[in-house]
Amino acid sequence: MVNDRPAGGTGTSQDDPVAPDLSRPSIARVYDYVLGGKQHFEIDRRAAQGFIDALPDAPVIAKDNRNLLRRGVRFLVEEAGIRQILDIGSGLPTEGNVHELAHAIDPSTRVVYVDNDPGVLAHGRALLAGDATTAVITADLRTPAAILADPVVTGLLDLSRPYALLLSGIVQHLADDEDPYGIVGTLREALPAGAYMLLSHFLDDDEPRATTLERGFLQGGLGTGRFRRWDEIRRFFDGLEMVEPGLVYANDWRPDAGTPAESPVHTLYAGGVGRKV
Ligand SMILES: C[S@@+](CC[C@H](N)C(=O)[O-])C[C@H]1O[C@@H](n2cnc3c(N)ncnc32)[C@H](O)[C@@H]1O
Repeated sequence: MVNDRPAGGTGTSQDDPVAPDLSRPSIARVYDYVLGGKQHFEIDRRAAQGFIDALPDAPVIAKDNRNLLRRGVRFLVEEAGIRQILDIGSGLPTEGNVHELAHAIDPSTRVVYVDNDPGVLAHGRALLAGDATTAVITADLRTPAAILADPVVTGLLDLSRPYALLLSGIVQHLADDEDPYGIVGTLREALPAGAYMLLSHFLDDDEPRATTLERGFLQGGLGTGRFRRWDEIRRFFDGLEMVEPGLVYANDWRPDAGTPAESPVHTLYAGGVGRKV
């Protein structure tokens, strides 16, 4: 595993992991909680309750998202032939981590995990010890150029050659005034021809539950979680050629035997994969 920043870093934080910040809930830990993991604290569970009260089925969105990610990574490595992955907003290690999914198909696939929660680095270090193909760094999506210039990223991935950019369940945590389109645009424009972008996002499909749940996320303690409309999510893929079936409800994206036949939150989450031509 590569996780040490050479001197003269890029402005992203790569310090040794610190004790978890328990003064506020962490998106990564709340997500871990709703997925049934063990890396969460009371403050995270209380924040989760804020949106579970609004919609008891809300945790299923996380499971549907994880399922889409699994199918997406399999497509990218097995069908599209991708062997390098930049996973921004990777989350805490859980069942079916991206590098494990990729390595099950080709163990030489290189993966860099990026998350702004230092807990991800701490847990990643333990998980990835001895794995030379996979690294984890602490960095923020809101500084995309710094991520692309990060020495750990450029040391493991050749960004001039096709890679997969994963933005799974993260862009919804950018508020409208944080320039989400500019940020994703910077990453998308940096993709070389033949590269892919997987993006999944909370969906406002014009149903009241999206509004209720967004309120639960924004006001229920977590303080973040935007539900965007189809056209708003589609804009993130501008200029990319959509891989079939395009931007769709998450469980409709190339479903397989492991995809839930029915989901109570089917219409609240969307995702797709685009290819740079
Ligand atoms: C909902 S989880 C998604 C995890 C994983 N990508 C998945 O799809 O299962 C969102 C992750 O994005 C991270 N995150 C949120 N905002 C971020 C930012 N501005 N920069 C980097 N990571 C961020 C959180 O810490 C969290 O781990």
